[in-house]
Amino acid sequence: HVRRKLVVGNWKMNGSLAQLAELAPIAAATRAASGVDVAICPPFTLIAPAVARSGGIPIGGQDCHHESAGAHTGNVSAGMLKEVGARLVVVGHSERRAEQGESDEIVRRKAEAALALGLQTIVCIGESETERAEGRALDCCSAQLGASIPELSGEAELVIAYEPIWAIGTGRVASCDDVREVHALIRRLLVERFGDAGRRVRILYGGSVRGDNAAELFAVDDVDGALVGGASLTAEGLVPIIEAAA
Ligand code: G3H
Repeated sequence: HVRRKLVVGNWKMNGSLAQLAELAPIAAATRAASGVDVAICPPFTLIAPAVARSGGIPIGGQDCHHESAGAHTGNVSAGMLKEVGARLVVVGHSERRAEQGESDEIVRRKAEAALALGLQTIVCIGESETERAEGRALDCCSAQLGASIPELSGEAELVIAYEPIWAIGTGRVASCDDVREVHALIRRLLVERFGDAGRRVRILYGGSVRGDNAAELFAVDDVDGALVGGASLTAEGLVPIIEAAA
């Protein structure tokens, strides 16, 4: 199975209208790289203006609610994202699991809602520093994956992002051996559950990916791209990662 590399920038709670100027050079680098898919997920308020200035790069949300509408103050539904031009959404990021107390069950329902509307859906999993230190990283990822992803149905693409929490925003990128071990586990679980379709699911690594470590990560089996936080905020940071994926 040939899986195209996918590089997704997650701006988290960063960015501004002025920062959308970074999108044009990111789009230009994506066209030049060919063979790499690139998407940017800015904060909700920037999605519509980002779509207008995206240069063709898919723009997405960083979360969505699992219901389509209703009394959920402060939340945004998958349909609302789609209406303003979002083509993808990240669900279950560890920062939301921690700060908003999102359970695997809630993450799975969010993913179901997004996939049902045709949004490419990136489900995040990953162990904490304590879980890794105690030798429970694989068990933790296995349990999270099993409970956080929905059944595959329809045309929309499910993507998995493995983000060890201790590697996020710390500059402590996971070793290639650790990444290989977890991605192989995820692949095996996907194939057990979905059969051949599990081989088509792209598995991203996230956690302190930079221009100077991307190439070695992308060379690891079953690393199909990256979910990039800090380095995705500027073209200067993201373009070398896009080029490493090409
Ligand atoms: O969603 C992105 C990840 O949490 C990685 O963030 O690249 O700043 O470590 P980072």
